[in-house]
Amino acid sequence: MGWRDKYTKKAQKEDKRARSAYKLEEINKKYSVIKKKDCVLDLGCFPGGWMIISQKIVGTEGRVVGVDQKKIEPIKNAEFVQGDVFEEKTLEKIRGEFDAVISDLAPKTTGIHIIDVEKSVELANKSLKIARRFLKNHGNFVCKVFVGEGFDSFIKNFERYFRFVKTFKPQSSRRESREAYVICLRYYKPNDSAN
Ligand SMILES: C[S@@+](CC[C@H](N)C(=O)[O-])C[C@H]1O[C@@H](n2cnc3c(N)ncnc32)[C@H](O)[C@@H]1O
Repeated sequence: MGWRDKYTKKAQKEDKRARSAYKLEEINKKYSVIKKKDCVLDLGCFPGGWMIISQKIVGTEGRVVGVDQKKIEPIKNAEFVQGDVFEEKTLEKIRGEFDAVISDLAPKTTGIHIIDVEKSVELANKSLKIARRFLKNHGNFVCKVFVGEGFDSFIKNFERYFRFVKTFKPQSSRRESREAYVICLRYYKPNDSAN
């Protein structure tokens, strides 16, 4: 069995809803983006793999809110907002501040690399804006992005808002895929909320 099938089978067996759940486990093991009792905002949460992992980490004193345009099967004690992250009416439904914003938002791929990268960068930049709006001071942020041209200047923008920024490719991510995760730790929240 190939390593890719191994992760898919493992996810089905353990009801983690998606093999992407392992990516978050790997990320969190290495960078401790999410901690016990944290409030977590999960962008692009369908079918809910990252929400289930997050819930396990934050425990009963934490809070997990997922957002996706596709409706998820309910997850006990977790909140879900259905809608497009580009629409203000979706963001208005999200209450409170968060210790961590995690984004696995991914575009529908066309197979044309340059277009897929462009769409993914657009989603990553939108996630950064959402993170800046909802994160507490010193909060953490993770987002998926397809690596392509202009990646260095894309990353530079993230470095303006966080004390630590690093690109990470989990082992459970398909080797042939151009996806990577930008790990951003300790948000510099401006005192002036009109940032
Ligand atoms: C790779 S999946 C997320 C998997 C999830 N992290 C898990 O562990 O179950 C990416 C998700 O991004 C969502 N998505 C893409 N664009 C979106 C948008 N503009 N607004 C809301 N959700 C979006 C898709 O519907 C899709 O469910």
